[in-house]
Amino acid sequence: LQEPPGLLSFLWALRQNPLTTWTERHFEERIITGSGALGRITVVNDPAFIRHILVDNVANYRKDDLQLRVLAPGLGRGLLTAEGEEWKLQRRTIAPLFPPRVVTGFFPAMVESAERLVRRWRRRPEGREVDISLEMTRVTLDVLERTIFSKGVARDPDALGRAITRYFEGLGRIDPVDIFGLPDWVPRIGRWRARPAIRFFEELVNELIQDRKALIARGEPAPRDLLSLLLEAADPETGKGLSDLEVGANIVTFIGAGHETTANALSWSIYLISQDERVRSRIEREVDQVLGDDPFEPQHLDQLVYTRAVLDEAMRLYPPAPFLSRAAIEEDRFGDVTVPAGTVVTIAPYVLHRHRTLWEEPESFRPERFLPEEKARIDRFAYLPFGAGPRVCIGAAFALQEAVIVLATIVRAVRLDLRQGYRVAPLHRITLRPHGGLPMRLTHRSQ
Ligand code: HEM
Repeated sequence: LQEPPGLLSFLWALRQNPLTTWTERHFEERIITGSGALGRITVVNDPAFIRHILVDNVANYRKDDLQLRVLAPGLGRGLLTAEGEEWKLQRRTIAPLFPPRVVTGFFPAMVESAERLVRRWRRRPEGREVDISLEMTRVTLDVLERTIFSKGVARDPDALGRAITRYFEGLGRIDPVDIFGLPDWVPRIGRWRARPAIRFFEELVNELIQDRKALIARGEPAPRDLLSLLLEAADPETGKGLSDLEVGANIVTFIGAGHETTANALSWSIYLISQDERVRSRIEREVDQVLGDDPFEPQHLDQLVYTRAVLDEAMRLYPPAPFLSRAAIEEDRFGDVTVPAGTVVTIAPYVLHRHRTLWEEPESFRPERFLPEEKARIDRFAYLPFGAGPRVCIGAAFALQEAVIVLATIVRAVRLDLRQGYRVAPLHRITLRPHGGLPMRLTHRSQ
């Protein structure tokens, strides 16, 4: 990051929308190092160097303090924020929850959520406006509720959705107090506002865990959802399971890491489709050919190649997780670059995916880049919507399956057009979302 003149205006920009702190140089140069209030920072857009950091020399890099201070209050010590031995143990224990077999098992729940969404839209009169950003958040939360808790477990079915929304609302901003690394007792505005929601949500999750454990203890059949899988999971090396606290932290982590990210991937895809008639007719043609009026089946997923390419390309232009960072534990060298111990190394998919030395016409939306033949030519470390290396997103297959199902179900049922004259701008608040929502007009395609 480049600090513009005036530390305060830089910090303000960082809190309001970190995207505005990127300069032209970042999109042109492969490695930029600077020092300032945030310490020494190296921004890396070189795929070989990124591979070095995330894979080859991964043991020398840990998640940096600012990132942990922003994420940990919301996510606890779940997989996303755990470090060292604790992370290794959790990753070994949780990885078996996400193989293709288990993810395919969630197919019916995902289709049901997507169908429920379009059923609701069908009841709306032609031309009615919906906020796609909000609608996508609702549908991804619905998927998570069904796959984690087998929806219906909570006493008040809407309580969970409401609690989650309030929980994450206050936690999305970088607080100046976090930037300066002040102790935990110094009040943070966002966290203070979110306090009642935090308590309510944590109590609710704990209640769900205890209810499920009681059910299992009584020998009654438990649903095969992520909650049961987490409670049964055991470290393959030691046979040890997760504590209730770890199960809770990971449920919150799955929801935190999995709802807005997937919702944003969908929102940006829908927005981009609406801006390009050629893309719109091609995706509609594919969806109509593959699905027609038939029920959505798992074998359709592999046939929706263009739909998947649209999602991949939307995540290139608007990566839902636009910023990854690490801190160097000891001094490192890569070619003629020295990375002193303590340097924060920033890998920003938002910048990397639009880098002029890596992409042809980086600003234009061309899903064809991700059709199988062309996709094979993309450097693995030039495209990082899900990160890479040992800490790669554990929910990537889950998210992609869900996004293809939801997008294809929407394209089959409706057309969405952006409100006339509405200016869309990306806002970086941990995830990359459309600022102020995405008002779009509904036109029905099929019944
Ligand atoms: C990690 C992106 C969906 C759970 C990550 C990372 C990225 C990412 C970039 C790596 C962060 C880093 O290296 O610092 C995304 C995107 C998603 C998505 C773009 C949707 C389009 C999901 C879903 C889940 C999930 C649906 C869970 C159900 C996690 C977890 C980690 C993670 C637990 C931490 C893994 C570890 O550190 O071992 N995600 N994610 N994500 N993601 Fe996702």
